[in-house]
Amino acid sequence: MNLHQTVEHEAAAAFAAAGIAGSPVVLQPTKNAEHGDFQINGVMGAAKKAKQNPRELAQKVAEVLAGNAVIESAEVAGPGFINLRLRPEFLARNIQTALNDARFGIAKTDKPQTVVIDYSSPNLAKEMHVGHLRSSIIGDSISRVLAFMGNTVIRQNHVGDWGTQFGMLVAYLVEQQKDNAAFELADLEQFYRAAKVRFDEDPTFADTAREYVVKLQGGDETVLALWKQFVDISLSHAQAVYDTLSLKLRPEDVAGESKYNDDLQPVVDDLVQKGLAVEDDGAKVVFLDEFKNKEGEPAAFIVQKQGGGFLYASTDLACLRYRIGRLKADRLLYVVDHRQALHFEQLFTTSRKAGYLPEDVKAEFIGFGTMMGKDGKPFKTRSGDTVKLVDLLTEAVERATALVKEKNPELGTDEAGKIGKTVGIGAVKYADLSKNRTSDYVFDWDAMLSFEGNTAPYLQYAYTRVQSVFRKAGEWDATAPTVLTEPLEKQLAAELLKFEDVLQSVADTAYPHYLAAYLYQIATLFSRFYEACPILKAEGASRNSRLQLAKLTGDTLKQGLDLLGIDVLDVM
Ligand code: ARG
Repeated sequence: MNLHQTVEHEAAAAFAAAGIAGSPVVLQPTKNAEHGDFQINGVMGAAKKAKQNPRELAQKVAEVLAGNAVIESAEVAGPGFINLRLRPEFLARNIQTALNDARFGIAKTDKPQTVVIDYSSPNLAKEMHVGHLRSSIIGDSISRVLAFMGNTVIRQNHVGDWGTQFGMLVAYLVEQQKDNAAFELADLEQFYRAAKVRFDEDPTFADTAREYVVKLQGGDETVLALWKQFVDISLSHAQAVYDTLSLKLRPEDVAGESKYNDDLQPVVDDLVQKGLAVEDDGAKVVFLDEFKNKEGEPAAFIVQKQGGGFLYASTDLACLRYRIGRLKADRLLYVVDHRQALHFEQLFTTSRKAGYLPEDVKAEFIGFGTMMGKDGKPFKTRSGDTVKLVDLLTEAVERATALVKEKNPELGTDEAGKIGKTVGIGAVKYADLSKNRTSDYVFDWDAMLSFEGNTAPYLQYAYTRVQSVFRKAGEWDATAPTVLTEPLEKQLAAELLKFEDVLQSVADTAYPHYLAAYLYQIATLFSRFYEACPILKAEGASRNSRLQLAKLTGDTLKQGLDLLGIDVLDVM
């Protein structure tokens, strides 16, 4: 259930009864939220607007609220806050529902959408870098939440597999294979650099490379086959990263830039015909008054280069049209580094004007900040190179495995390795997802692998604690009436009932850190509850009810972490 929304609803009805219908309720958990209490903070604003005494108005609202089916008591505090205490029977009933339903009593959205989400999307000419790690992790989590809420999610991996670099890379691949038929492309970064050196040094090589570009874009089968060979190798590198990260992204979700090649000229022609794109210095440009610079000149969104070549923008226009026209998207999400924000704003504006992006389809740029090293600079290797993601993830697993072994010297190597993988990968993902995606964040091994604080190991450990309770619990009954008496029991229960509220807000805003913060809150509350309210030693109905709370805590952690793309363990 969506507890927050339910209480907010009750408060809004009371506002209406008190003559301030429509005023924002501003509902918050009280400071310590013992018993799961809420506070209404909206009366003051409403009183000001209605020119009424806030305390008197609050009193009126409180009188309406007190004693309804959800709220046990409503008390005016301070200048016009209202403190709400929920009925324990109301909480208990909903705990029953959540506990005995595979979806935690969470309804699927009554307005399911087709959401096309663009994420990961590396350039295949080079090795995937940390920016793509962020896009992959964040996009995957958003896609999981949207699907869980009942939407149709179409994942699109918009890989950069087209453009002039590929002529050079294919030419170099041919050259390498000529000398050594068994040549294997192991390091894309190195390969790219070597190809670039050849290109700059040797005019004959450069000519061949250029010739390949022309042939490639003209659809020459031999060159296309070579190109495909390169692209496949590069994709297999990306897939290795996806597999290690257990992403939902599959090979079928790859829809790279090359896919839209045949549609680029038609799009530009259409923009010209609609009077949106105009000739400017030989190029075709859409001038956008919405993005004026300091001098008052409109921004130039270039859709075709001088000489006829196409660009990133042309491809994205064709691609957007495809996602709406063919994939029937109701909502478009682009999970991309925030440095590309302007490109997407201009893309959306142009698409609206051209009629590619209808009024009722939302297009959202889901930007994120840079992953920094501990030195405060963008994350690089010690020698200043980009970090290969495979290496980064291997290191995560190694570090976590060492840590697990240290904590549990009696664990076998296989077992420690398995746990290390779940903990290490979980830690990397969670370190990213627990931060507001729009800010930069510092990649810090020690912090992310710590068993204390807002980390994956802390949450995974909280889950194992719940499991260990059940290994000793013996018989208990998930369907027996839940009895909530202690303040912490009620507080934990109330928090558990906000799962739907949180998932809804992640689905609406595409901010996975709301979910991370929620899970951390659940784990922290559980640990306080566990200290204050003995579970197995409790008597009578209390023992069973506490086991119910523990079970729902474990299940919520597991489901919540899964929606972040993180696995749990029974022991660690
Ligand atoms: N390949 C691009 C890059 O690495 C990201 C693509 C994002 N998606 C898009 N539709 N433009 O910067």
